[in-house]
Amino acid sequence: MVIANHPIIAKAHTNIALVKYWGKLDNQLIIPQNDSLSITLDEFYTQTAVEFLPSLTADEVIFDGQVLSDQASLRVRTFLNHVRDLAGIDYRAKVDTKNFVPTAAGLASSASGFAALAGAASRAAGLNLNRRDLSRLARLGSGSATRSIFGGFVAWQQGHDDATSFAYPIDEQPTWDIAVVALVLTAKQKKISSRVGMRLAVETSPFYSAWISASQADFKTVKTAIQNQDFELLGHTSEQNAMRMHALTLSSDPNFTYFNADSIKAMNMVKDLRLQGIPCYFTMDAGPNVKIICQGADAERIAQYFQTEFGEEQVLVTRPGSGISISD
Ligand code: DP6
Repeated sequence: MVIANHPIIAKAHTNIALVKYWGKLDNQLIIPQNDSLSITLDEFYTQTAVEFLPSLTADEVIFDGQVLSDQASLRVRTFLNHVRDLAGIDYRAKVDTKNFVPTAAGLASSASGFAALAGAASRAAGLNLNRRDLSRLARLGSGSATRSIFGGFVAWQQGHDDATSFAYPIDEQPTWDIAVVALVLTAKQKKISSRVGMRLAVETSPFYSAWISASQADFKTVKTAIQNQDFELLGHTSEQNAMRMHALTLSSDPNFTYFNADSIKAMNMVKDLRLQGIPCYFTMDAGPNVKIICQGADAERIAQYFQTEFGEEQVLVTRPGSGISISD
């Protein structure tokens, strides 16, 4: 194992879950309570450079040009410790990361962030992990990062321990024309992180066990829909699954929601479009932004409809993106 003598750069795209991960069985290893399934998106990504240097006495983390405080870089430094353990090295690292994702706005920047960090840090430390092992490593940073190692449609197999919980590709380069229209309704930092929100659901929602059985069924249905390229089945099931997840926030104690007034307006607009005969479905993660799953041929028309309501800048059309890439 040879530590790289120059910065290693990795680029990973974010992903949007069609069947959500919402709850952990193991908070340390980030073993989820259910299987989940996502689409990796081409427009939103993180690019991260990592170099381990004998001259450093502490890890140095630069995020979008700013040096992070010890508190802000804690998750990154904890993650680097996993990489050091795995590689058997002791050097501190310089991490320089740029996010091409509206941060903490429900566009899951921790997914692309920890996937890129896993790729760059492991190779910089001299490890040459295959994609399954990279997805296991990324999982230790953030659950959704597990899936961002792969492109297109990706599943995260729940597993039961570190060795068995990893992502795998279902259809890396979909041949059917799928698009996601992302509505950036606010770029403000969310009040309740997914980490805290899902823990509350596991510990307090009386609906939690129903969520597990429903989402395991949704997982099978969406997988079949992808295999058969059945857009309506995929869209309908994804929308139902998203609302089931959000029902967990409403039924937690204390209760909370990620919806704001514009989210509800946008969801109703999606239903109006369906009544007009345009097949499209919504999904939302741990933030107020709404993502609309549609067929590529309808994407521009749908985007225009939402641009009239929310403004041109707030509406982004994105397509399935590729998996991680890592420099030599
Ligand atoms: C709603 O991956 O951010 O986006 O593992 O605690 O870092 P941690 O959580 P995170 O949660 C993502 C939740 C979600 C659903 C999903 O992406 O599957």
